[in-house]
Amino acid sequence: VRVVISGVSGGLGEAVVRTLLEDPACEVHGLCRSAAHVTVRSDRLTLSEIDLADAASVDAWEPGQHVDALIHCAAVGDNVSFADADTARWERFFSVNVVAAATLTQRLLPRFTPGASVVFVNSGLGLRASSASVPYSASKAALKSLADAIRPELNDRGVSVTTVYPGQIATPMLARNVAAMGRPWHPDSYIQPEELARILVQLTKTGPSLQLTDVVARPAREPW
Ligand SMILES: NC(=O)c1ccc[n+]([C@@H]2O[C@H](COP(=O)([O-])OP(=O)(O)OC[C@H]3O[C@@H](n4cnc5c(N)ncnc54)[C@H](OP(=O)(O)O)[C@@H]3O)[C@@H](O)[C@H]2O)c1
Repeated sequence: VRVVISGVSGGLGEAVVRTLLEDPACEVHGLCRSAAHVTVRSDRLTLSEIDLADAASVDAWEPGQHVDALIHCAAVGDNVSFADADTARWERFFSVNVVAAATLTQRLLPRFTPGASVVFVNSGLGLRASSASVPYSASKAALKSLADAIRPELNDRGVSVTTVYPGQIATPMLARNVAAMGRPWHPDSYIQPEELARILVQLTKTGPSLQLTDVVARPAREPW
């Protein structure tokens, strides 16, 4: 089983890689900006350094052989209000969170094995936008639309497409946003990345007659 996953230096991405590697039959191809920031090491983990905000860097990626699952985990996630959202920020959110996800999926089209799966890690804000996080909410809504728009074509190729909409996860992204909001950091109040990682890995194993299109994952108690 060969899985390609972006954002492997991140809190959730790292947990997904660790969970995937628990299966001795699984080989993981991780995408990261810098391999130096990836803490997991395994002879079944290969890394490609790609800046997902840079189209030339994405286009230069050599995706390799067949792929059984593609998990889009990378994202820019800072809270940026409408007033603070300048053109450069809009471009960064959309290039990483939407354009790179589309391009990576398209590049892999000829390599998906029958029964393969694509999982997009979205956000609760992709379903319900927040005025505190305007470019992020808009990019995640676009990512939902991307998944829905390409699902029929991928399904025709025997590939399932799932979007997961998590609430707050105890990762560096949330820690930064909680600090920016001036709130105390209580990681136990949020979804634990390892717990969500198990669900994401499970989502790559559904089928052959069933496809989970949209999965909403909330903290056991809403933290605010
Ligand atoms: N944490 C939450 O509360 C929460 C809630 C809902 C949804 N999510 C979603 O969960 C997913 C994982 O986020 P996380 O919480 O694990 O956040 P994180 O710890 O900040 O990880 C984000 C990942 O995205 C990568 N990334 C950002 N910009 C990139 C670029 N230009 N090129 C390549 N990689 C880039 C980061 O790489 P670097 O290390 O190089 O920056 C990092 O690996 C994201 O899709 C996020 O939107 C998170």
